[in-house]
Amino acid sequence: MQAKPDSVIKGDCLEALNTVADESIDLIYLDPPFFSQREHILAKRDGSEEFRFSDNWESLNSYIQFLNVRIELCKKKLKPTGSLFLHCDRSAGHYIKVMLDEVLGRENFQSEIIWTYRRWSNSKKGLLSNHQTIFFYSKSADFKFNQIFDAYSPSTNVDQIMQLRVRDFRNKTVYQKDNNGDSVLAAEKKGVPLGDVWDIPFLNPKAKERVSYPTQKPILLLDRIISLVTHPGDIVLDPFCGSGTTLVAAKIMNRSYIGIDRSGDAVKLSLKRLQNPVKSSSKLLEKGRDSYRKNNSEIESAVKEVGGVTVQRNKGIDGLLKTEVGMVPFKVVLSGDDILNHAQLISKSSSKNKFKKRALFARYKVKTGEVKKIENEFNLIVFTTLSELSEKLRI
Ligand SMILES: C[S@@+](CC[C@H](N)C(=O)[O-])C[C@H]1O[C@@H](n2cnc3c(N)ncnc32)[C@H](O)[C@@H]1O
Repeated sequence: MQAKPDSVIKGDCLEALNTVADESIDLIYLDPPFFSQREHILAKRDGSEEFRFSDNWESLNSYIQFLNVRIELCKKKLKPTGSLFLHCDRSAGHYIKVMLDEVLGRENFQSEIIWTYRRWSNSKKGLLSNHQTIFFYSKSADFKFNQIFDAYSPSTNVDQIMQLRVRDFRNKTVYQKDNNGDSVLAAEKKGVPLGDVWDIPFLNPKAKERVSYPTQKPILLLDRIISLVTHPGDIVLDPFCGSGTTLVAAKIMNRSYIGIDRSGDAVKLSLKRLQNPVKSSSKLLEKGRDSYRKNNSEIESAVKEVGGVTVQRNKGIDGLLKTEVGMVPFKVVLSGDDILNHAQLISKSSSKNKFKKRALFARYKVKTGEVKKIENEFNLIVFTTLSELSEKLRI
């Protein structure tokens, strides 16, 4: 019998994979036991249920052999444009990498992704291990890949992002100037292409998506992998699906899925999660770790609301907006703020004629007289909505 899309199969993936059509899968994510040489057991918080799987092996060789035959099969199941991601840790990661090179081809090795997270632990001799590794291979050079962009880091210099840089006669990088000596703005940048170190929080004990399966992975991690190499409607396969994290992520993202696990409890749990897919949100991931100590979140959400890019290292500029007249730096004024002081700050910050227009985004109704005074005195635009800003830019 052939495995159907959107199904969860109970059994050893070695046999179950044979029921999957050759060259039919877009992404295979494997999160097998890691060679920890122990039994993984976790009870639900209310003690009603307990899930377990074994990670005991006769030898490292037998473990690598176990994976090897299953990866060979996975390779057959991938479309020529497909990709494989294997999740492991320091226990056997380096041996796995060598085996993967042999089976999938070194030329198809794309990335070693480091999934890093914060954790607390009693001190023991040695370094605290706070990452796991995900090896990313494509089936061929013609693999699907969707570039993802990350926000600029808070330490990024806003001048460097916004201004065109060229090399001078000494081959030194300098900011390009126009005939009037003003800086020239660079083409729009989408952010920094996603790197191979992913800071994604571990599921906390109270996370909504947590189902108390040992070594359960966060949906956010799978979200990212799925977004990188698949499109809606594609098929995602997880031969060691455990609690079904990959399947739930795929379902939420409108991809088809096939899950396999040899534990009946894991299959039941996956099916249950799929009936009501729940994903926890991560404040930390949405806003970035630095947002916890930097900007006021009200300012950040105001910048986001108008579609601006947050500027972190600049006292006078909270955000940058792409508009019909080019980039417009703006400062957010909250009710209770000293608006004159804000006007001075932004005027100082962008005084070098870098920008044609600068603005104050007021989050409350500013008196008309005050608006006029500030606009004339500081040559600023005061606005409370995006359409008001566009209108004033056109004048
Ligand atoms: C690390 S867990 C997967 C956790 C999963 N990613 C999650 O987020 O819940 C590994 C899973 O592999 C399963 N497993 C171990 N050997 C297997 C095999 N030969 N075939 C299928 N599943 C297997 C175990 O039952 C366990 O559920």
